[in-house]
Amino acid sequence: MRPPAYKAIVDEYATAIRSGTLPAGTRLPTHRALARERRIALATATRVYAELAAAGLVVGEQGRGTFVKVRSGYDGIEPSRDLPVPRVADLSFNQPLAPGQGDQLRQALRALAASGDAEALLRQQPPGGHRHDRAAVARYLLDRGVDTAPENVLLTGGAQQALDCVLRALTRPGDVLAVDALSYPGIKLLAGAHGLDLAPVPVTPAGPDLDALDRLCRTRPVRAVYTIPTVHNPLGWVLDRAQRERLAGIATEHGCMLIEDGTYAFLAAPAPAAAPVPAPLHAHAPERTCYVAGLSKNVATGLRFGFAVVPGRHVRAATTSLRAAAWGSPGLVTALATGWLADGTVARLEDQRRADAAARQRIARTTLAGLDLTGHPTSYTLWLTLEPHQRPAHAAALLAAAGILVSTSDAFSTGPHTPAALRLALATPPLPALAPALTLLRRTLDSIAP
Ligand SMILES: Cc1ncc(COP(=O)(O)O)c(C=O)c1O
Repeated sequence: MRPPAYKAIVDEYATAIRSGTLPAGTRLPTHRALARERRIALATATRVYAELAAAGLVVGEQGRGTFVKVRSGYDGIEPSRDLPVPRVADLSFNQPLAPGQGDQLRQALRALAASGDAEALLRQQPPGGHRHDRAAVARYLLDRGVDTAPENVLLTGGAQQALDCVLRALTRPGDVLAVDALSYPGIKLLAGAHGLDLAPVPVTPAGPDLDALDRLCRTRPVRAVYTIPTVHNPLGWVLDRAQRERLAGIATEHGCMLIEDGTYAFLAAPAPAAAPVPAPLHAHAPERTCYVAGLSKNVATGLRFGFAVVPGRHVRAATTSLRAAAWGSPGLVTALATGWLADGTVARLEDQRRADAAARQRIARTTLAGLDLTGHPTSYTLWLTLEPHQRPAHAAALLAAAGILVSTSDAFSTGPHTPAALRLALATPPLPALAPALTLLRRTLDSIAP
């Protein structure tokens, strides 16, 4: 049987988009124009665009037309990770984005365009940001238990730049940085760039082994401890109050700084919940804690807005390090971010994200039931320990051949012993696509013969 005629048009467009002949952002003919051009019914033209949209190749915007979509996901960030087959799901990188955020951005840009002093956005911002913008972030942080003056807040191009600026301010090449044996890969990149000596601290699903950290600090001159106490990436733990007190106590006893990464902290239950999240480390030891976070996971990864809260004696060095690098957050991004902080958009998105992450965890726990999983009930990450006969690189290659991107444990490992595991990022696929993708993942892993 011959495929229906509209399929040929879908394929023609899909090929042109995938090959780049029709680049991202190209406006496609209106449904009516396509129907006329190809001599097909209007309903058929609509179906062509619906199929292209379902394949993630175009995006239709009411009243504006249909556009070739900007490809997002890991292959968009690291072109070398391009898949050999059409992508089924990107489980390698968390890029949560709620429906309607594009419209939210349009509205915010319109409001900015209509606001009094648009020219101000074209002038150089002070490194670290204007005081009123730093104050907006300080107000937001108070709800998270981080009590800071605006002078101690530096605005950056994402949490990664905040970490970079803090490390540059606190450390010198050769210094020892204690870090969880499984941790956020960006800290490894930074430690390499700054010439730091990474000292891994053994981990359990409930948190770092604090006895081991204490021993490490007794035997080596640890300059700083990088830690993710609330919704750890990749393991999802939330440290309890006693663990936080102990961690702060160890840092105080041995005179080391704490670098607290709160990037995913918003995913833990907010204060009125049954089990409120314990206060951040910053509240235990404000004079030796640099608190770092941003709006990548609660608002949008492409916004590139973050901040560092730095104790007074390090503010000058941190500001200088920002000046030496990218100067901090650009004015336009800062205006968008602080606008959304002030009008409650960020708080609403965070509520949505917690519910979304919980739904994704439930789907994953159901679909992958019986596998060795570590994660938090409202986290976007899941750590999947493999069977002894499954190797991470081989499993990831098989999954890539099935259209699924995952991260392997070596990316997170800071020590000599890397457990055989995959890190699944659950946030990026559309919610209805998650269960089918995880079912395919499970089937692919099951196909690996012992
Ligand atoms: C724990 C952690 N810290 C920092 C970052 C970097 O965030 P940003 O995109 O704001 O630079 C990430 C990104 O995935 C992360 O997982």
